[in-house]
Amino acid sequence: MTGSIGMSISNQQGKLAGQGKVPRHIAVIMDGNGRWAKRRMMPRIYGHKKGVVALRETALACADLGVAYLTVFAFSSENWRRPPEEVGFLMNLFLRVLAVEVKRLNKHNIRLRIVGDRSRFSSELVYMIESTEAATAANTGLTLTIAADYGGRWDILNATKCLIADHPEKLTGLDENDLSPYLAMAYAPDPDLFIRTGGEQRTSNFLLWQLAYTELYFTDLAWPDFDRKALDQAIAWYLSRERRFGQISEQLTSSLPSC
Ligand code: FPP
Repeated sequence: MTGSIGMSISNQQGKLAGQGKVPRHIAVIMDGNGRWAKRRMMPRIYGHKKGVVALRETALACADLGVAYLTVFAFSSENWRRPPEEVGFLMNLFLRVLAVEVKRLNKHNIRLRIVGDRSRFSSELVYMIESTEAATAANTGLTLTIAADYGGRWDILNATKCLIADHPEKLTGLDENDLSPYLAMAYAPDPDLFIRTGGEQRTSNFLLWQLAYTELYFTDLAWPDFDRKALDQAIAWYLSRERRFGQISEQLTSSLPSC
């Protein structure tokens, strides 16, 4: 569904968060950086730099709104196939973002977590990831998760391998609850709202397991143009959705308390 609702929720944000109406978990594919830069006759990396600004603004807005988890796709398992200069730039950018933003994360009580396969990262980057996670571990506000060298299929396969290693006796009779604790985002509820910028309408191997019942929102805005107003619009659209989780509409209303 492409969102077009212009209603702003800024003026009622505190109230909505208090009532548990703001999505608890928002997952974002930050797409369109390269095309955004190309339209401005600039190299693709310029779009990624501006993408960091949009990420900062979105994280602060989520913290302000009372969203508990924001998870963003920064680098997919497939992104290693990009030109080596762009991959190198993104790795350096990641390193610099971690080094520079830790103070701001602490100031805003934001906990940072990184999910994905760290085995292909430089030792310097792994060290920076571990130290930033440790430096923000006591923060109790928004949990910002950056998915880096992440793929949904990798996540499910990795969880399955870990589950079998821990419980070889469980090879038969497995259920969903057995696997969930081994997935990369076991510490968070499944996303309520998924946002993809950049005009494409697919989930691109992001959180495949976790997005099963998530409301999917697509916008043509390129990620560097995504701002507080765009976030408000996505949340307003989400609030207009009826989440049935396999039930029918009448079942949801009949289970509401009468007063
Ligand atoms: C997709 O746009 C974006 C990426 C693959 C990288 C996302 C990275 C950032 C937003 C930078 C900030 C994040 C960190 C943590 C370093 P694209 O390049 O696929 O754009 P296109 O579809 O227009 O080519």
